[in-house]
Amino acid sequence: MADGPAVLFVNLRRTRREQLESLLAARRLGYGIVMLAARVPDHLRPLLKELVIVDSFDGDRARAAARTLATRHDIRGVASWTESDVELVASIADMLGLPSMPVAAARKARNKFAMKQALSHIDGLVPRFALVRTGDELASAVESIGLPAVVKPTGASGSTGIFELHGPADLAPALAHLKRIARPEFDSVFRYFGAELIVEELVAGPEVSVEGFVCGGRVLVAGITDKWTTDPFHLEYQHVFPTRLPAEVRAAIDRMTGQVVLTLGLDNCAFHLETKITPDGFRFMEVGARAAGDYIASHLVPAASGIDFYGNVIRVATGQPLELTPKEQLYAGVRYVLAGRPGRLERLAGMEGAMEHPAFHHLFLEVPLGTEIKLPPDSFRLQRVAALIARDSDYQALTDLLDEAASSVRPLIGEVSVPV
Ligand SMILES: Nc1ncnc2c1ncn2[C@@H]1O[C@H](COP(=O)(O)OP(=O)(O)O)[C@@H](O)[C@H]1O
Ligand SMILES: [Mg+2]
Repeated sequence: MADGPAVLFVNLRRTRREQLESLLAARRLGYGIVMLAARVPDHLRPLLKELVIVDSFDGDRARAAARTLATRHDIRGVASWTESDVELVASIADMLGLPSMPVAAARKARNKFAMKQALSHIDGLVPRFALVRTGDELASAVESIGLPAVVKPTGASGSTGIFELHGPADLAPALAHLKRIARPEFDSVFRYFGAELIVEELVAGPEVSVEGFVCGGRVLVAGITDKWTTDPFHLEYQHVFPTRLPAEVRAAIDRMTGQVVLTLGLDNCAFHLETKITPDGFRFMEVGARAAGDYIASHLVPAASGIDFYGNVIRVATGQPLELTPKEQLYAGVRYVLAGRPGRLERLAGMEGAMEHPAFHHLFLEVPLGTEIKLPPDSFRLQRVAALIARDSDYQALTDLLDEAASSVRPLIGEVSVPV
């Protein structure tokens, strides 16, 4: 057996800086990293003790590979990073006798319909919803739920295929787009639940996410994030951590979060829960049984609070006590620079002002220069071309800077030459 304790990673997150931070978190806690992944960027391979290339959609093969790795390494936990792998991570951790959650709970966390069904007995929490697969089912679901509504895939993430329905004429185009999108060739996340769709009443009001952990049945909230999404496709374009909601609202959100996480049976994982806030109370959107993306867990939480969120992902996976005491009380936010039109991304302009600002923290390019940008509904992953991260002791000063930066930093989009 190789020297020293190790953590098993099943794939990495999509963005390069989140990938790196996740690996560094395990190393900082003294673990070697062994990995099962479909692919790994070359520059990260030197950080791994062993890598097995495996298609994680093929659960049996992935579990067999994990079993073999466990004969060669002292694996202390299985860390979960991506939405698609939540169920596989639970099954591998369970198989190896490591901290895990029931696979049935992981499956509920992966499917927006199963999740809402499991919570539907909680008074007023879940928006009206229905499962649909066909045009007829969509029409009758909208009949009973009413308009406006939202139709979206049950198993996707990253705001892929969120369609608002405001009138009867919106149903057929939304369904046509979803049939085109909800296929593995469009996005591999659709290998799991395919073109299964959920219709929900459209809930108005501000939205927040809750970042936390559940550990041996104890739910611990690290903080709440304010969230902004685009109109009408709901791409997440800004997050600020922590929220400036008043203490009593935060306490109510924490209580609701505990109820949701325990009702679903999530355990030994990080979670990222999303909810709308309405005059009639919370309307639950969804919960992921893994840490938040969009640099919330990797950068915003640590920059604002000093809490090592990714370090705690490793701790929860390995059964170590969590360290969630804040060491700082700042605000951190990410603002995405959005492409205004499709075409070839040539470069970013107008960054100097933001970079000179004392609150400036990072600027990450989200898509390589030269990429042909497409906007929703043609693509849901390319409009956010850059991410600007800042922090400040003052919430308003921070959001002012993010607004200013969003108007001065401009993606220069050229024409795409179309072959004749
Ligand atoms: N029923 C709804 N009412 C209002 N907004 C919604 C509804 N469903 C989804 N949205 C918006 O779309 C975003 C993405 O939807 P969500 O269900 O969280 O899917 P994803 O897994 O892609 O994040 C939500 O954060 C919210 O802003
Ligand atoms: Mg979501």
